[in-house]
Amino acid sequence: RTFLSLMGAAALTSSMMLTGCGAGSGDDRKIVRIGHVQSQTHPDHLGLEAFANYINEKLGDKYRVEVYPSELLGSQTEMVQLTQTGAIDFVVASTAIMETFSAKYQIFNLPYLFSSVEAYHEAMDDPEVTDPIFKTTSKAGLETVAWLDAGTRNFYTIKTPINQPSDLKGLKIRVQQSPTNVEMLRLLGGTATPMGFGDVYTALQAGILDGAENNELALTDNGHGDICKYYSYDMHQMVPDLLVANYAFLNELSDEERAIFEEGFQIVKRTEQDAWEDAVAEAKDKAENEQHVNFIYPDTAPFQEAMAPLHDSVLAANPELQPIYDLIQQHNAAHTAD
Ligand code: GCU
Repeated sequence: RTFLSLMGAAALTSSMMLTGCGAGSGDDRKIVRIGHVQSQTHPDHLGLEAFANYINEKLGDKYRVEVYPSELLGSQTEMVQLTQTGAIDFVVASTAIMETFSAKYQIFNLPYLFSSVEAYHEAMDDPEVTDPIFKTTSKAGLETVAWLDAGTRNFYTIKTPINQPSDLKGLKIRVQQSPTNVEMLRLLGGTATPMGFGDVYTALQAGILDGAENNELALTDNGHGDICKYYSYDMHQMVPDLLVANYAFLNELSDEERAIFEEGFQIVKRTEQDAWEDAVAEAKDKAENEQHVNFIYPDTAPFQEAMAPLHDSVLAANPELQPIYDLIQQHNAAHTAD
């Protein structure tokens, strides 16, 4: 299905190493490869295209940025591994996937961590919240350079409308490959089926899954709304996507180049976030009117109550996260009065 499964990870890695510099003869520009899982109309891709244009314009004599969408280079987990080894230079990965590379990322996968979109954005823009986490994976060869909006995640199902947590009992629900998400489903009484994003459509179609959970774009961009007719706004997570860099690549840039790349990271973030709200509105409209998905608005309190124990267990296992958690609560409190 993907490049990787066709060629094998090892073959891909070595062929990329060999062609690490520009393709044509006499072209010694470094090719900067960025992989992601989304379609070419998704806000993540629009952000990365703007980044590619900016870097190619400012530093085009030395670098050529190439963006690979749609899991062309592998699943998200595989692409993080490729970024770690330097086979590619950047990947867009969910904090859910990052928690298997550094446990600290678990904090962002806690259900109902943020009490509003405003608090979410403000906390993610606060370096005191993000620096201790984004920079902790440098030993693993990775560093997070920007966060991107991925909206709010909600449950959606083929046949069973989810109005309350007990409706999930016995249902097989796809989650991202993250222990926190598996535990989340357990607390709700459902059965978590972790798998890569690109495999979800087929698994839904084959009836291996009863549903999944994601933002609205999964319904349209990934076609899940063709199969799942109930989308239930339980609002369990605001899980950001991250632009993650190979650490050595960043550190080998000269100061001048680094400044230009840093500006580029801001461009990805701004472009992506500016496109997000409209993309969600458009997806919802298409899902409702063309795919005939029913949107359900349950009382979120019983869901929040059922998932609350995850906050305590993650903090107990990672006490160093407590000050960051407390800071996030301050951002939440600052917005309850809005
Ligand atoms: C969203 C998110 C992706 C993630 C996907 C998933 O689309 O933006 O980063 O891979 O959900 O559920 O796997």
